[in-house]
Amino acid sequence: MKFDIERARAQTPGCTERIHFNNCGAALMPTPVIDALKTHIDLEARIGGYEAAEAADAKVQAGYPAIARMLNCKPTEVAIVENATRGWDMAFYAFDFSAGDRILTCSAEYASNYIAYLQVARKTGALIETIPDDSHGAVDVDALRDIIDERVKLITVTHVPTNGGLVNPAAEIGRVAREHGIPFLLDACQSAGQMPLDVEELNVDILSATSRKFLRGPRGMGFVYVREELIAELEPPLLDMRAATWVTPEDYRLVDDAQRFENWECNVAAKIAFGTAVNYALDWGMDAIESRIATLSGGLREALAAIPAVRLRDLGSRQCGIVSFTVAHMAPPVVVMGLQERGINLSVSRATSTQLDMHGRGLDALVRAAVHYYNTEDEVARFVAALEEVIRQK
Ligand SMILES: Cc1ncc(COP(=O)(O)O)c(C=O)c1O
Repeated sequence: MKFDIERARAQTPGCTERIHFNNCGAALMPTPVIDALKTHIDLEARIGGYEAAEAADAKVQAGYPAIARMLNCKPTEVAIVENATRGWDMAFYAFDFSAGDRILTCSAEYASNYIAYLQVARKTGALIETIPDDSHGAVDVDALRDIIDERVKLITVTHVPTNGGLVNPAAEIGRVAREHGIPFLLDACQSAGQMPLDVEELNVDILSATSRKFLRGPRGMGFVYVREELIAELEPPLLDMRAATWVTPEDYRLVDDAQRFENWECNVAAKIAFGTAVNYALDWGMDAIESRIATLSGGLREALAAIPAVRLRDLGSRQCGIVSFTVAHMAPPVVVMGLQERGINLSVSRATSTQLDMHGRGLDALVRAAVHYYNTEDEVARFVAALEEVIRQK
């Protein structure tokens, strides 16, 4: 079926202002999401914050079944929190690591996750190990099989890294984890919203993602999915009166479901709008979104490959909508600034975000051009022409 690009753009006000290829930073919100945000803020202004939350309770709760539908899980396995990292942290820090426990991760791992590994390793003596890459730079699943033993406490990888088009073979990694009875944590921050994510197919036990990127929701929202069987085993590092009930002066009781990873106060307007964004993505269809993004990013990679000064930097045999590159003799921020001046949004990804990968490849920074389904072939062509101009004028 043909993708209704006109409707997608008509419902994306930001499209008229700029060419937005910073969807891996924060995508443009569509009209239904913007309306949901504004409507609730207006209601809060009119009748009061608590009263507005009560009046809009059905909308506040709608995010859980929406995320559950997207992931093929139960709404009670979903916690909605301030961002992907907070959700990820609440699950990761709930594991009881001790000296000699092995944490297996990947070379594309994201800074915030790796900082948490380092902290836990320093405090407990747990060991952090990187699963070797295959020849394309993705996680080598056979190598993973070879290094597993009974000391592996957690397998924790990033699905799509912040710095490029690589898609790690999450389902295969998850299958190995399952065969060995090891919990599998997947950072799906950059994959959520640009491809289907089914927790059964992926064999994941924990999955975190954010609202503002390919899901096109508001900033300051994210979620974590935790498999039902694991929830009871994980006591989050931080608790409040939403995660637990103060049952007697001396005692508290954790709630049974994934709400134990949440906290009481939250941005209600953003929570409603996030649910709207997930439903909006599902209405387009995750397969249709993935295929439209593949067409655009494929065309973009082809055009960039034809520019002699440009070097594509995407790893992996399977690639997604984040197109990463460098330009000979031009620092990535200079490239991004040149395009920004021409009304085109891109972003720089620095070594500090993906230290293992960037250090390994000798890169300090690279440029990210991340397309979404509402972008067009014409925008790709205009971007490539503008980039050529920036390179000529350097
Ligand atoms: C791969 C990856 N994981 C996690 C995050 C963190 O997401 P958040 O800022 O919502 O915590 C990002 C953000 O860029 C990311 O790219």
